[in-house]
Amino acid sequence: MKAAIRRKYCSQDLIKVEEIEKPTPADNEVLIKICYTTVNRTDCANLTAKPFIMRFVLGLFKPRKIILGTDFAGIVASIGKNVNSLSIGDRVFGFMDEGSESQAQYTTTTEENLFPIPDQIDLKQAAASLEGANYAYTFIHKVKIQSGQNILINGATGGIGSALLQFVRQHDVKITATCSGKNINLVQSLGADKIYDYNKEDFTDDQDKYDFIFDAVGKSTFGKCKKLLKEKGVYISSELGPYSQNIFFLLLTSITRKKVIFPMPYSRQKTIPYISTLLNKGKFKPVIDREYPLEEISKAYEYVLAGQKTGNVLLKIE
Ligand SMILES: NC(=O)c1ccc[n+]([C@@H]2O[C@H](COP(=O)([O-])OP(=O)(O)OC[C@H]3O[C@@H](n4cnc5c(N)ncnc54)[C@H](OP(=O)(O)O)[C@@H]3O)[C@@H](O)[C@H]2O)c1
Repeated sequence: MKAAIRRKYCSQDLIKVEEIEKPTPADNEVLIKICYTTVNRTDCANLTAKPFIMRFVLGLFKPRKIILGTDFAGIVASIGKNVNSLSIGDRVFGFMDEGSESQAQYTTTTEENLFPIPDQIDLKQAAASLEGANYAYTFIHKVKIQSGQNILINGATGGIGSALLQFVRQHDVKITATCSGKNINLVQSLGADKIYDYNKEDFTDDQDKYDFIFDAVGKSTFGKCKKLLKEKGVYISSELGPYSQNIFFLLLTSITRKKVIFPMPYSRQKTIPYISTLLNKGKFKPVIDREYPLEEISKAYEYVLAGQKTGNVLLKIE
């Protein structure tokens, strides 16, 4: 089978699409024929081992898994003899931030990492509903969003932000979002009530006060956003911030009224069923930016590493 391989932490230029042996599922595993995967920001961190902390998960000196890929949508091709919940031909999707070796024609994993794709959702949409949406859910699972609240999403067009905006829109709240001028219509269609073009205006000059500020792209800081927060407001960022300051603020603000929370990775058994429910109801539509064939994977990584994708970038395997 064909697989995208890197044997050391590197830039996108060193990814090679190689012909290697197709994996065989163990008794408790499933072989999945991958149809679509995405190239996302978690993949970029897994490729480059940046931030350094990734090495504690992926391998200190070199990656334990040489095949790239974290999320996938595909079809069950064969099953181990102890697998009971799936059959050959089932459509499944999944996401493993530690690596699912899915930028390849086939991968194997155990049943608990696989989720049925809702009937009316095609394989492209399914693949685009995983990584960013999974992290978006980590922003909201720890906070209690209530009707009438005022919420700001910085970077509402990224993989995380575009899913987060749709998740927050499930509530009767007022949403302010930031994006660049070209994406204003998109952000409006996803449910924002007030929009800042970050190239022209600074949202921190806003006179409104917010219950939650979700910095989905980590481009602002608690220091800049603090004045916008209500008395018991919360700032949550997808990044650790300059000098990893959000860890310090997380501890410091545990005793103050305005708080900083870090969106810790959360159980896939909770996030993916939540995403599936919204997909099923037509209340979440993943944003797809562009699609590359497996052979052009280096170009896909180059584009995603630039940090300006809109929503999700698909990689077509079959
Ligand atoms: N905490 C975690 O476990 C975790 C996991 C995954 C990713 N991350 C981090 O989370 C961040 C977001 O990930 P992502 O996949 O959503 O990113 P992404 O899709 O690569 O974000 C790209 C988007 O960022 C927007 N953007 C760029 N500069 C901006 C600015 N100054 N203000 C507002 N928006 C800006 C762009 O908007 P326009 O197109 O409108 O210009 C673009 O749509 C990344 O920094 C990533 O490293 C964290």
